[in-house]
Amino acid sequence: MDVRKDFPILKRGIYFDNSATSHKPKQVLAAVFNYYNNHNANIHRGIHRLSEESSERYEDSKKTLSKFIGAKDWKRIVYVKNATEGLNLASHLLNLSKKDKVVITSMEHHSNILPWRVNSQVSVVDISSEGVIDIEDFKSKIKGAKVVSMPHASNVLGTINEVELLTKMAHEEGAKVVIDAAQSAPHLKVDVNKIGADFLAISGHKMLAPGGTGLLYVSKEFSESTPFMLGGGTVFDVTNQKIEWADMPERFEGGTPNIGGAIGFARAAEYLMEIGMDNVRKHEVSLLKNFFKLNEEKLVEIYGPHSLKLRTGLVSFNLPGVHSHDVADFLNARNIFIRSGKHCAHPLHERLCIPSSARASFYIYNTLSEVENLFEVLNEIKEVFS
Ligand code: ALA
Repeated sequence: MDVRKDFPILKRGIYFDNSATSHKPKQVLAAVFNYYNNHNANIHRGIHRLSEESSERYEDSKKTLSKFIGAKDWKRIVYVKNATEGLNLASHLLNLSKKDKVVITSMEHHSNILPWRVNSQVSVVDISSEGVIDIEDFKSKIKGAKVVSMPHASNVLGTINEVELLTKMAHEEGAKVVIDAAQSAPHLKVDVNKIGADFLAISGHKMLAPGGTGLLYVSKEFSESTPFMLGGGTVFDVTNQKIEWADMPERFEGGTPNIGGAIGFARAAEYLMEIGMDNVRKHEVSLLKNFFKLNEEKLVEIYGPHSLKLRTGLVSFNLPGVHSHDVADFLNARNIFIRSGKHCAHPLHERLCIPSSARASFYIYNTLSEVENLFEVLNEIKEVFS
């Protein structure tokens, strides 16, 4: 994939921490730079030319992102600072009480545990030893649930969940469905319309966009809910007697948003669409294949599905007898950057009965030879620690 020239930062080393945040291509940085140099003003607040240009660009960015996620109407897109904020907003809009049952899975990031844990009764669906949702357990736990919230792809196991089928099953039981797409949208085609979810959250910064960008897709049914962030932009009118809330999406975006970030977010989505999400996926599968091939001798213990079809381009693993932080530290000394620890998924590590894991997460600019380099150093670590 001929994209490396777009990422000057790659000269710093082999970056395998893409699931935490991705690098940003020159085109995205240029779009943000251009916006601030030539159009900067607040949106929906001025009648002057710059404000109008900014408002138009901001709304256009949502049109691009709705195309990216297959949403039919750009007004269903609410900008948030990341998927975490999106999931918190979804939890608020669902108006839960401690009597309500919310179903999540054993493979959640904390962002898809905590917003539900504090507001409702949470029931957790188990996973198989390979890290796949136990469908029988899912079927039984969704009975009586008000909400089912699950990741499209796991940030530790890489498992790609059958969200279309699971959403349908949850809807048949009368539950609303929230999808955490933070780890899928950067790596494979996400179509919110096909999935049929009521809410879907994405982080922009994991898909080549600037930090502080993300979105929550909110289905029409929730467009009249009471906003979470109250303030400028969320109302048509306020008097001392009444509040008249604005329509979506302004209703849910109190205060001045991250306008430059939104422009960069849309440019990142365009950049990915120009490559084609099928090509992104193919590239990551080729890197995964290489990783699994290089691990034929079982140098490391890999978590998650064995079938590459069922996983995104990330691998969490442990080198027997070596703590994941020592692995990451050693790799860092060789300019190879991975994440180690529990990846904000403590219950999942408890479920896997491991104290931590090392995680190499790939993206469009990684190469087969980088994966080979990783294995050379892993072999070295094994020698040093044995
Ligand atoms: N959620 C991000 C990760 O898994 C930060 O690393």
